[in-house]
Amino acid sequence: MKKETRNLFNKLTSVKEIKELNWFITNIKKRKNKIKKVLDIGCGRGIKTICLANEFKNIKFFGIDKDEEEITVAKKFLKYTKIKPKFIVANIGNLSPKLSNFDCIILTRIFHFIDKKNNALKKISRALKPKGFLFMIVFANIFSNKQPIPPKDILKFAKNNGLKLLNQKILKNIEYEDSFKLTFQKNET
Ligand SMILES: C[S@@+](CC[C@H](N)C(=O)[O-])C[C@H]1O[C@@H](n2cnc3c(N)ncnc32)[C@H](O)[C@@H]1O
Repeated sequence: MKKETRNLFNKLTSVKEIKELNWFITNIKKRKNKIKKVLDIGCGRGIKTICLANEFKNIKFFGIDKDEEEITVAKKFLKYTKIKPKFIVANIGNLSPKLSNFDCIILTRIFHFIDKKNNALKKISRALKPKGFLFMIVFANIFSNKQPIPPKDILKFAKNNGLKLLNQKILKNIEYEDSFKLTFQKNET
């Protein structure tokens, strides 16, 4: 991670957990030549979106969240950066056809909020280009006493919607519950 991105992260949040951002950076870097347009779904205040846009200046970033107040804060944070992702109020269950043709979609800790998980993965798959990537961080249910999603359901719904699992790893979090890091690629057709 560039020092500039690290400084920006520290300016935007008091959160210490940098591993999530690091994972997205590593994952995007590996496929840098194939990724030109990224959508961050459930971006909240857009901290990751802004930091990633700063790290990858040639990639166009979009962040959506269903919560208008979060998007308002994300837009205010844009004053800290010359590289400005586009933030939009939108619900994953009702993605506009304009939000499509992405080379990569990222999601961090939002899947436990979503009731219609199969439908959400259908919308995600539609918004991706063929062979596009989905990088997802989801709470690992085996460590949780809340009601997160069993990753096996995600794997099943992802497969149903043409998303092939490339990688699955545990992320040991400092500030949150442990999570799964899941990497998918949309099928060619
Ligand atoms: C735990 S926060 C994570 C924020 C951000 N991704 C991060 O890494 O810090 C989850 C976010 O998902 C958003 N969210 C939940 N359900 C959503 C939906 N159906 N469509 C879009 N955003 C949603 C919430 O409003 C919230 O801002």
